[in-house]
Amino acid sequence: MTQQRQSPESMSVVWLVGASTGIGQTLALRLAGSGRQVAVTARSNDRLQALAEQSPVPGAIQVFPGDVTDGPGMADVAARIESRMGPIDTAIFNAGDYEPMGLEDFDPALFQRLMAVNYQGVVNGLAAVMPAMISRAEGQILVTASLAGYRGLPRAAPYGASKAAVINLAESLQPELALKGVSLRVINPGFVKTPMTDKNRFSMPFLMTPEAAVDAIMKGLERRGFEITFPRPFAWIMKTLRLMPHRLFLALTRRMVNRDA
Ligand SMILES: NC(=O)c1ccc[n+]([C@@H]2O[C@H](COP(=O)([O-])OP(=O)(O)OC[C@H]3O[C@@H](n4cnc5c(N)ncnc54)[C@H](OP(=O)(O)O)[C@@H]3O)[C@@H](O)[C@H]2O)c1
Repeated sequence: MTQQRQSPESMSVVWLVGASTGIGQTLALRLAGSGRQVAVTARSNDRLQALAEQSPVPGAIQVFPGDVTDGPGMADVAARIESRMGPIDTAIFNAGDYEPMGLEDFDPALFQRLMAVNYQGVVNGLAAVMPAMISRAEGQILVTASLAGYRGLPRAAPYGASKAAVINLAESLQPELALKGVSLRVINPGFVKTPMTDKNRFSMPFLMTPEAAVDAIMKGLERRGFEITFPRPFAWIMKTLRLMPHRLFLALTRRMVNRDA
């Protein structure tokens, strides 16, 4: 009897967190279409169930609702995925929350909310998957930050600071994790048209569709670099801004504030 060979993708279990809308929703469908088994998490069970029903490969998307701000809850979700689907070899922590904030609306509660989802949510996800990956000495983890995490941008303090924290966290943990056989990488998108950016009232440079963003993420998954960033022209602009001295950078952002005032 000939044994059917399985492709590496078909044996792969991906935990995708923040999958109910936007980039995550599109990514879940693409991962399932590529032969992977995808466990999807977000707070909205209804949207996740609807997503699972759209899977291009029946049964390839399985629903595990959860809230990233709940640390023990995230550990419980990871354990349930592993017992139902097998070891998680790729975890993608993509959940995010965003609200623009000008000085006139300065609100400590907003900083707390965005930090809880965007930063502590990633920490909770890492805590849920790292021990098993380290004990198997394999696995990859991707965390979604943002090009907005490179430098402080006007009216984005709560969001930008939470994404800067995620980039710093990943840089800090990557070397130790690599020595244990686990890869940790960062996805830094520019502007992507999703429910998150639909609330922006300014014109977003290099705005991409979720499909184009997911093309870039899928390509990045095949490579090994620390950072997956897109769209390329905007990423280079932001990388240049990162190198700019404060005097010049702050003169530029002051002009942005004046223009929007
Ligand atoms: N769109 C952009 O231009 C852009 C740019 C740079 C970075 N990003 C980042 O890319 C990621 C995806 O963003 P998106 O644009 O696709 O936004 P989105 O459509 O608003 O999706 C956000 C996802 O996060 C989930 N989520 C939010 N709070 C959660 C919580 N407490 N627990 C679990 N899941 C939660 C949401 O599901 P529920 O509401 O059902 O929980 C949803 O699935 C985010 O990390 C975002 O910051 C986006």
